[in-house]
Amino acid sequence: MIDTAADCSEGRLQGLNAVVTGAAQGLGLAIAEELGRRGARVTLADVQAEKVRKAAAGLGEKGLRVEAATLDITDSRAVREFFEAFVGNRERIDILVNNAGSRQSVREVAELGDQEWDRVLGVTLTGTFYCCRAAAVAMQQQESGVIVNMASVNGQSPAALVAAYNAAKAGVISLTRTLALELAPYGVRVNAVSPGPVYTDFNRQNMAERALSLKVSQQEIIQRVAKSIPLGRWGEPHEIAQGVAFLCSPAASWITGEVLRVSGGLEGVSATPPKKAKGAPATGNSG
Ligand SMILES: NC(=O)c1ccc[n+]([C@@H]2O[C@H](COP(=O)([O-])OP(=O)(O)OC[C@H]3O[C@@H](n4cnc5c(N)ncnc54)[C@H](O)[C@@H]3O)[C@@H](O)[C@H]2O)c1
Repeated sequence: MIDTAADCSEGRLQGLNAVVTGAAQGLGLAIAEELGRRGARVTLADVQAEKVRKAAAGLGEKGLRVEAATLDITDSRAVREFFEAFVGNRERIDILVNNAGSRQSVREVAELGDQEWDRVLGVTLTGTFYCCRAAAVAMQQQESGVIVNMASVNGQSPAALVAAYNAAKAGVISLTRTLALELAPYGVRVNAVSPGPVYTDFNRQNMAERALSLKVSQQEIIQRVAKSIPLGRWGEPHEIAQGVAFLCSPAASWITGEVLRVSGGLEGVSATPPKKAKGAPATGNSG
């Protein structure tokens, strides 16, 4: 690992081997680009095979050292094999950013089905655990490395109508802090970033569903969200990427077990949904 004062001040990641999950689009793609710009050799891993290949090709055209890999983080065996092959080829893994996660369909707990609960927890929490575990094995052996997990302001301050997502992100924060303790003796740092709202595909869908549930236009809900953020606007993917890259860099050499909110000051969304009319039929199911 590089740790000179000059490298620290620049947050450089020259020559480091990095993996970013969920990097075919959105925040993951912005993070991969930022790590690449800082000199890391980045593998973009995503379940969307064609999309991640194109995303990596795009970054390659910008002169960054990147590769694409198809990986479903919910497949425990595939995750283990991916990281074993990665370390076999590169000899070491310096940076892992566990960015892949899934949104939840917007509905109250009383109407939340088993499958949706399991799906969201499966990708967002269990998939992150699989990747953390595989990287921890390698990082313990090499006695260096950095892991950054993507949490959310929802993991610290739950929003109504997305209980599975809130619970998954709270779990990611707990996993981060546990792993930070366990890997500290090996000089491995583990932190989380909690983004506030950024208008990616993830939130395009969220806003559409929230607008429906509140019976207001999408534009109205997008503006309401902006007004609830102390800095008065939605975030941009590169702003989240800066926070992640900082935690990956030697500039953060004495930071571990931390959760960095990158949210324009937003701590959480606490709005209460309107009460249903008495006798209104439940739309959820248990499946
Ligand atoms: N966008 C936001 O406002 C926001 C806010 C807080 C936290 N986050 C978190 O940031 C992360 C990225 O969010 P985003 O907005 O870019 O989302 P996104 O939905 O645009 O992108 C998610 C990416 O993860 C990939 N992915 C999904 N399941 C996967 C799997 N099983 N294996 C591998 N890859 C998989 C998808 O293919 C996609 O490329 C997520 O963890 C999300 O929960 C986002």
